[in-house]
Amino acid sequence: MSGVQDLNTPMLALQGVHKRFGGLHAVNDVSFQVAAGSIKAVIGPNGAGKTTLFNLIAGNLPVSAGTIVFQGQEIQGKKTHQVARLGMARTFQNIKLFHGMTALECVMVGRHVQSRSGFFAGMFNLPSTWKEERAIRARSLELLELMQIADLAGVEATSLAFGQQRAVEMARALASEPKLLLLDEPAAGLNIYETAEVARLICAIRDMGVTVLLVEHDMSLVMDISDEIVVLSFGSKLAEDTPANIQKDAEVIKIYLGEDDAG
Ligand SMILES: Nc1ncnc2c1ncn2[C@@H]1O[C@H](COP(=O)(O)OP(=O)(O)OP(=O)(O)O)[C@@H](O)[C@H]1O
Ligand SMILES: [Mg+2]
Repeated sequence: MSGVQDLNTPMLALQGVHKRFGGLHAVNDVSFQVAAGSIKAVIGPNGAGKTTLFNLIAGNLPVSAGTIVFQGQEIQGKKTHQVARLGMARTFQNIKLFHGMTALECVMVGRHVQSRSGFFAGMFNLPSTWKEERAIRARSLELLELMQIADLAGVEATSLAFGQQRAVEMARALASEPKLLLLDEPAAGLNIYETAEVARLICAIRDMGVTVLLVEHDMSLVMDISDEIVVLSFGSKLAEDTPANIQKDAEVIKIYLGEDDAG
């Protein structure tokens, strides 16, 4: 059955995942699963290992130990493009959009991960790719519409407002038609209205059938939209539960209040 997903297979399963940077255990023996069709959040103080965990899952960094199973297939040790082709996409804590490209072009680049002819054939403008190129453009526009920024398709992406750039990044990630989307702090730097909009967009993405794993510091966003929450502290999993139970968890309250005291 390897590589074949049945109904009981989680979308993602981490088992004993570990990442060392020299003497630092940035991710320490972390295990959890993400159910298909759910929204799961990873929370924890600054430096807890959340982004490192995403880098391990998406193949940006090799694990020091442990297994990562995506749709029934082990992916630890695979490169980012291999993981992407299996159906995983991500956004970054620091927005990474290309200078000199319109919002639409940024999304089209994301689409080329899955296209038959690929990004380079597209660049050389081969006749065989024209039809595919039109389809990619149409789908990319649909995704900008879904993110409610279709009117900005022709605007240079890096000149857009911060919240709009995040929407472009999400559309670009979705353009590869992922089964699992990793979002690293999608609401960072956004005001309360933009954050509410991001919450709505993430739910819309889930409703499209895309499983979502997100890292976020905005607790109201996390509590509102997550089915389950994993709490990391100094690289280790401190708790994993529903939002209602996490809010009552004494250990979790302590690390967050401790952070406030220190700040
Ligand atoms: N490439 C690296 N080399 C060495 N140390 C690293 C590297 N990347 C991260 N670290 C360290 O690993 C720890 C976890 O960092 P990470 O960025 O994963 O935290 P985080 O939970 O995402 O924090 P934040 O909420 O601030 O984004 C930190 O102590 C960080 O300094
Ligand atoms: Mg981070």
